[in-house]
Amino acid sequence: MAVTDTSLKRVLVTGGAGYIGSHVIYALQKTRRYKVICLDNYHNSQPKALTRLEQIATDALPEGATAADKASAIIDVHKCDLTQPEQIRAVFKKYGKGGIWGVIHVAAYKAVGESTEIPVTYYHNNVSATIFLLQVMDDFDCTRFVYSSSATVYGTPPKVPIPESTRLQADSPYGKSKVMAETIIDDLTHGTPLLYALITIVDEKEYSPTHEMASYLLAILQMAVGRVKDPVLKVFGNDYPTPDGTCVRDYLHVLDLAEGHLLALDALAPESKLFDNCPTEARYKAYNLGRGQGSSVLQIVEAMRKATGFDYKTEIVGRRRGDVPDLTADPTLAEKELGFKAKQDLETACRDLWNWQTKKKKKKKEQWTP
Ligand SMILES: NC(=O)c1ccc[n+]([C@@H]2O[C@H](COP(=O)([O-])OP(=O)(O)OC[C@H]3O[C@@H](n4cnc5c(N)ncnc54)[C@H](O)[C@@H]3O)[C@@H](O)[C@H]2O)c1
Repeated sequence: MAVTDTSLKRVLVTGGAGYIGSHVIYALQKTRRYKVICLDNYHNSQPKALTRLEQIATDALPEGATAADKASAIIDVHKCDLTQPEQIRAVFKKYGKGGIWGVIHVAAYKAVGESTEIPVTYYHNNVSATIFLLQVMDDFDCTRFVYSSSATVYGTPPKVPIPESTRLQADSPYGKSKVMAETIIDDLTHGTPLLYALITIVDEKEYSPTHEMASYLLAILQMAVGRVKDPVLKVFGNDYPTPDGTCVRDYLHVLDLAEGHLLALDALAPESKLFDNCPTEARYKAYNLGRGQGSSVLQIVEAMRKATGFDYKTEIVGRRRGDVPDLTADPTLAEKELGFKAKQDLETACRDLWNWQTKKKKKKKEQWTP
């Protein structure tokens, strides 16, 4: 192992080649305080995202960068399947006991619809894998854990904006797998002197209220570049108890989300006062990350119309099973305790998405850029 690594804290990011994980790595690299270890089986991603991240971080290094700065730009990449405990163990073994400072667990399967078709696969990948990871962490004295959860753990929340005190009651196997993982982490913090933080992401993609495709914004994007045969956006229901009758979601820029993960990790440092006010001995906290401001389907379509210049046609169809009226986060606790603040507004998020799409089209060889 390079000597230059020693001043950096090693952080293992699972699912680091994926959409959120790659942006989390980007945020970690930017601090030049962490040495990122990425663990992914590329089920839903490609390793070239990591090469690109290294290039971006290296290009951003200041003149006179130290050896440690340079090392922080380079990712230790491990192809590893989290459902195979011996593969996880081999990664931890490389760094030895106490060699990994913390873990950000992002890897998971995430499609609500698919999870109803193959629930056991979802439980295995999202729950068993989390248990395996926690067991190996324990064996190697790794005690800091940030977990990427999902708004789906709240099902239909009784109160909106959603506070962290909301009961967990997911509807789909995907959502339930996230509830199970959260429950296990909570139990574990009661039984061992481990430090944990838990992130609950409030961001909407799977329950897409306008389109059958998994990602609503990406589907709208595809339409603007002419990749969709029938370019009429279906809006599933306009009779919800929301201002314009269509579903409301809290859209968060992925870089803000990544920043939230970084803040949670930083808060696990020994000098942090984060757990001083815990009601029990458990060192466990949940935070909702969001803008605290929902956008309706029609508002999103309008924002994308502005960003892309594409004249979207919409068609109101009936409500769809599984959709809930409003999933807006209450980020007050995350703001107060983590210093989290979503900086980017919806217009910026839409514009960045459009820039990303058009750049990708131009530079066909470059498959990914944050
Ligand atoms: N994207 C969203 O809108 C959203 C919303 C709420 C919650 N989340 C949560 O955020 C996390 C990441 O979502 P994403 O959008 O980045 O998904 P993604 O599919 O882009 O990334 C997940 C990554 O994990 C990897 N992975 C999956 N199973 C693995 C395994 N067994 N071993 C190793 N690697 C594995 C995949 O290859 C992929 O790179 C998930 O936990 C998801 O539940 C995402």
